[in-house]
Amino acid sequence: MERETVIVIDFGGQYNQLVARRVRECNVYCEIYSYKTDLEKIKAMNPKGIILTGGPSSCYEENAATCSPELFSLGIPVLGLCYGAQLMSYVLGGNVERASAREYGKTEVDVDCSSALFAGVTPHTVCWMSHFDYISRLAPGFRSIAHTANCPVAAAECTEKKLYAIQFHPEVLHTVEGSKMLYNFVRNICGCAGDWRMDSFVENTVREIREKVGSGRVLLALSGGVDSSVAAGLLSRAIGKQLTCVFVDHGLLRKNEGDEVEAVFGSKGMFDLNFIRVNAADRFYIKLAGVSEPERKRKIIGEEFIRVFEEEAKKIGAVDFLAQGTIYPDVVESGLGGESAVIKSHHNVGGLPDYVDFKEIIEPLRLLFKDEVRKAGLELGIPEKLVFRQPFPGPGLGIRIIGDITAEKVKIVQDADAIFREEVAKASDAYKEANGTAAPWMPDQYFAALTNMRSVGVMGDERTYDYAIALRAVRTIDFMTAEAANIPFDVLQTVMSRIINEVRGVNRVLFDISSKPPGTIELE
Ligand code: XMP
Repeated sequence: MERETVIVIDFGGQYNQLVARRVRECNVYCEIYSYKTDLEKIKAMNPKGIILTGGPSSCYEENAATCSPELFSLGIPVLGLCYGAQLMSYVLGGNVERASAREYGKTEVDVDCSSALFAGVTPHTVCWMSHFDYISRLAPGFRSIAHTANCPVAAAECTEKKLYAIQFHPEVLHTVEGSKMLYNFVRNICGCAGDWRMDSFVENTVREIREKVGSGRVLLALSGGVDSSVAAGLLSRAIGKQLTCVFVDHGLLRKNEGDEVEAVFGSKGMFDLNFIRVNAADRFYIKLAGVSEPERKRKIIGEEFIRVFEEEAKKIGAVDFLAQGTIYPDVVESGLGGESAVIKSHHNVGGLPDYVDFKEIIEPLRLLFKDEVRKAGLELGIPEKLVFRQPFPGPGLGIRIIGDITAEKVKIVQDADAIFREEVAKASDAYKEANGTAAPWMPDQYFAALTNMRSVGVMGDERTYDYAIALRAVRTIDFMTAEAANIPFDVLQTVMSRIINEVRGVNRVLFDISSKPPGTIELE
């Protein structure tokens, strides 16, 4: 089926995935490609529109990231953002220069609402600027359609050729009406009808999986995380019992998590599939005994996981397909699509395919962003609790226990973590009920970790010498940078008091206020 597609051409800017996500929020499918991609390949995809992203270069410098002038005469609408805007002007005969000062941050902008790009936008609005270079002379045929106090061309258009340029970043939430501008471009200027919807994605993917798999057998490593759970739901709907899910419980999951995963995907759950739970905690604890170096712990957990999975796969025998819950950001970040620097280094499934006897990999979520995976999950009837689960690292509590790991320590951190999550959920629900909006302090990720520190305390009349629990709660957009979440003090006090009273072995509760950088989100 031919799907309306907008192509996002990546010049290496930091917000490029965000551009694509915003386009998809307009129900328009888009894909990210590096600026080095051959123009013929782009043409062959028959896009309804093209968006050029921001990037770190200066377009007038030698070896700067560039594009073919032909891109602008295909008759396909093109929108340049930040660097993309400058490049469009420069390539088409305008002038771009370095300004005396960088324009950065929230900036007031006057826009010309007679332009289709700004239809329905407030004439005086707020945008997010981040640039040194500026368009000092427009290319022939263009007119300026927005300006700020310091930037004479904050946006420009050449309607005859359907070319548009925006110096600021409409994809960033600080640009208050940015989503409207992108909507105007993809829906009105490019004329996309908006056929990208999760209900039709599920329907189409189920059909595609059936066609591809035929009567074959599929094996999936199910972690209970959002991605592998949604992949399991999709595959189950498509091929039922031809799917086998192997769930390795390494004894480093959150409290009751193993049982929760089994309740959803096991024989008493809602899905038609073969579910195998391997309770391997003892094996992992034995391998981890006495090991305290973080990288070594990660390695042991990763290797043991593969070994357990491999043993199960051998029992199952040869399968036709190995399924994985790879999602679009993984594809882009691994360098196959875009140009942004590869920053993320941890991936759970690296190397897994070598250990299993299968013919082909199947990745049903390969085209989806995380929020789309969640929508697809809801569409499939997967419980909200699972669909909105916060990120949880593959090595699990193994990297939330500083120093060596024992079953006792795992129990302490599980109990403390469950209390913390319960109280934060309670407080955030209460806030929502009272104010009608989500609590502004609501963390994107939060958990308890066990420090390796014991200290003196007093409980009743007795002296104690027990562990300190560290509470970590962060707000973040991309998990690459983060700030400590400003959880109300009374909530923290309730958590502290409950942990000390209910969790044996703990006499102190600390709140980690470090940002990332320099602190990472996890403690190890
Ligand atoms: P850090 O600690 O690097 O964490 O600031 C950033 C995000 O990545 C998660 N994380 C992991 N996820 N395997 C994963 O799947 C891992 O080994 C791993 N280590 C960290 C972490 O929970 C946070 O969301």
